[in-house]
Amino acid sequence: MKVSTQTKLLGVVGNPVRHSLSPLFQNYMLRKLKINALYLSFEVPKDSFELFMKVSTFHPYLGFNITLPFKERALGICSKISSDAKKIGAVNTVKVEDGKILGFNTDWLGFRDSLKEVVGDLKNKWVLVLGAGGASRAVLYALSLEGAKIYLWNRTLEKAQELAKRFRATTLESLDKSVGDFDVIVNTTSVGLREDDPPLFNYELIRSEQVIYDLIYYQTPLLKVARRKGAKTVSGLKMLVYQGVESFKIWFGKGISKEKIYRYLRRALKY
Ligand code: ATR
Repeated sequence: MKVSTQTKLLGVVGNPVRHSLSPLFQNYMLRKLKINALYLSFEVPKDSFELFMKVSTFHPYLGFNITLPFKERALGICSKISSDAKKIGAVNTVKVEDGKILGFNTDWLGFRDSLKEVVGDLKNKWVLVLGAGGASRAVLYALSLEGAKIYLWNRTLEKAQELAKRFRATTLESLDKSVGDFDVIVNTTSVGLREDDPPLFNYELIRSEQVIYDLIYYQTPLLKVARRKGAKTVSGLKMLVYQGVESFKIWFGKGISKEKIYRYLRRALKY
């Protein structure tokens, strides 16, 4: 692609964000579809998010992915917000149109589609969600729409109780006794980011019939034990790609198959 005055600009806004994998696969899609646009990463100081977004509503800006720690604050800078994003309470995708910012959430779609690939129909499936932070809400939203039986555990019980009310989940106060009962276990906490993090529960209790989903991008100790136990596993890398392809569709009205982009990213990362 030749950069010109017509080149559009997209990107991911976060802090920190230089490690983001989104530019890698978003630019791949732009190249493949021969779209005259670039996707960059914008590391915006925490007190300058609103200012940055305000000055990014003119040509050549077309849209952004919004990531930590701005997803909740992004609700406040949008002229219009999709009902999914409102219900989740977070915006991860914005589109710039006629100087206005439109807000969407594609995280829940990324999670739903990548989980359904492995589980199929989620209706009445018993799903345990670990964690009640920002990432948990898109997961809970997707599961509630799919009719799963949702159980929610969080280190700080009050936060789990608050989200449980909103997404019709049952809170769990302790883990080890019941982890074997679930069809699916989803880790939305940051535990596992570091190899020496103490485990959330005794991972040896995982059974081969279970599906274990970790929102962290790589093979965490939880996923490693789950694989050894013969369980099916999904990592957050898939959710990242799938939400990104959905964002791309919002910006351009078309995209490339999610599976193809996921394969590309795995090859690029030698994952
Ligand atoms: P994110 O937006 O990525 O979800 P967050 O909002 O800071 O980040 O949430 C982090 C989640 O990880 C929370 O559920 C947090 O539990 P608390 O609500 O009790 O803080 C969870 N978490 C972080 N460290 C943890 C640990 N060592 N053990 C258990 N849960 C942990």
